[in-house]
Amino acid sequence: MHIMRRKLAAGNWKMNGTHADLGTLRTLAETHDTSPVDILICPPAPLLDRAAQVVEGSPLTIGGQDCHPAASGAHTGDISVAMLADAGATAVIVGHSERRTDHNERNDDVRAKANAAMAEGLMAVICLGESLAEREASNTLDIIAGQMSGSIPDLSTGENLVIAYEPIWAIGTGKVPTTDQIGEVHGFIRTRLERRFGAGVARSVRVLYGGSVKPANAAEIFAVPHVDGALVGGASLTAEDFSPIIAALEAAAG
Ligand code: 13P
Repeated sequence: MHIMRRKLAAGNWKMNGTHADLGTLRTLAETHDTSPVDILICPPAPLLDRAAQVVEGSPLTIGGQDCHPAASGAHTGDISVAMLADAGATAVIVGHSERRTDHNERNDDVRAKANAAMAEGLMAVICLGESLAEREASNTLDIIAGQMSGSIPDLSTGENLVIAYEPIWAIGTGKVPTTDQIGEVHGFIRTRLERRFGAGVARSVRVLYGGSVKPANAAEIFAVPHVDGALVGGASLTAEDFSPIIAALEAAAG
């Protein structure tokens, strides 16, 4: 069956980057100016507006790293989806494990944020993943199933939803699951999407892998069935590291 999913290389800068790092975006935009894959960079919120201006007219797009589910109000320090869109973002990461851990975000919080993002016309990049203890107890697929049913909104489509499978034990550790382990979870996610949303949506939602993706392992990971790209942390911070990862995805796109 022909699959129409456009591959996606996404960079999550986390709490890294200032004005001085916008040159990375300029370099990526120039290097990949005719890319056959989608490229999304999620810088810290204070950089969104300037980052969006830097990538204007290039294949790169800009996203936030979190949002609040409410439209506005007394929520000190939070950012609404309308503010993200106003700053030039077209996407937002929600439910990253660092948010789930550091800010006690639960599945229903993540779903509310994703719902708000989708209602604003932003693409929600919903993160899922098991801890090391959960994997060692053979609970990975149960955890993923619970996160999917709890975090993914009913109004999801191939345009407004991206899923990132990020095993917590692989984030920032240099440890990467085997390609069989990645393939098992990605195949499982596709099957669960089909059961809930039907074959059309399941076929069109991009499922990214995240966790210690580097130039040296990217091609191997991108060859795994149902892997439609990557959500990259540390290696997205410089063009020197992120560009070869994008190139590996471009090669996989054929
Ligand atoms: P690293 O690529 O630094 O392991 O981070 C992955 C991640 O958490 C992306 O959201």
